[in-house]
Amino acid sequence: MLRRYRATPRLTLLNSTLAITRLQPDDLPGVWAIEQTLVGPWTLAQLQEELALAHGWHLVAKDGAGIVVAYLFGSRVLDEAEIRKIAVAADHRRQGIADLLLRGAWQHLAQFAVSSCFLELRATNLAALSLYQKNGFQIIGRRRNYYTLPTEDAMVLVKSFIP
Ligand SMILES: CC(C)(COP(=O)(O)OP(=O)(O)OC[C@H]1O[C@@H](n2cnc3c(N)ncnc32)[C@H](O)[C@@H]1OP(=O)(O)O)[C@@H](O)C(=O)NCCC(=O)NCCS
Repeated sequence: MLRRYRATPRLTLLNSTLAITRLQPDDLPGVWAIEQTLVGPWTLAQLQEELALAHGWHLVAKDGAGIVVAYLFGSRVLDEAEIRKIAVAADHRRQGIADLLLRGAWQHLAQFAVSSCFLELRATNLAALSLYQKNGFQIIGRRRNYYTLPTEDAMVLVKSFIP
């Protein structure tokens, strides 16, 4: 059975309290429903592969009724981590949920003395770029035509945890 965080980050929304927990197998349909609304969504098979990664860790944000409204997929090998995906349901955006998910991620990674966290994002994704820069990431590179459907460059970002 998957563990819950000891100190679960919470966010009080207008009508309910949102909590960040480890993803459970039952959460997959909720994740899949959001995933299908994104640009360049992963297939269900890709999602299932992701959740089976030995070095992966997966967080969900659920509202007071237990509905999945956002998720974050990460991985870690030794002291290096990666944010592989973050998504918030369209009708829940701009309420601080992605910020909260990242707090949950740092809380998870703090157990492993992680020194850096990498990620890639579509070059036109200015909302995500702003989110990551606000949370301490810096641009370190660009991969030409990295993404397909649509074809687009990737920006590579890193956040250092070394003081
Ligand atoms: C990017 C995304 C995860 C942001 O989620 P969110 O819960 O709306 O973000 P938050 O409310 O926590 O906002 C945190 C910060 O992100 C940035 N941000 C979020 N949405 C933004 C927007 N539409 N325009 C500009 N900046 C934005 C801001 O810096 C914001 O800080 P602020 O509120 O102090 O200005 C969400 O828009 C999303 O799911 N997009 C589709 C999937 C995606 O692009 N994922 C990222 C690549 S893997």
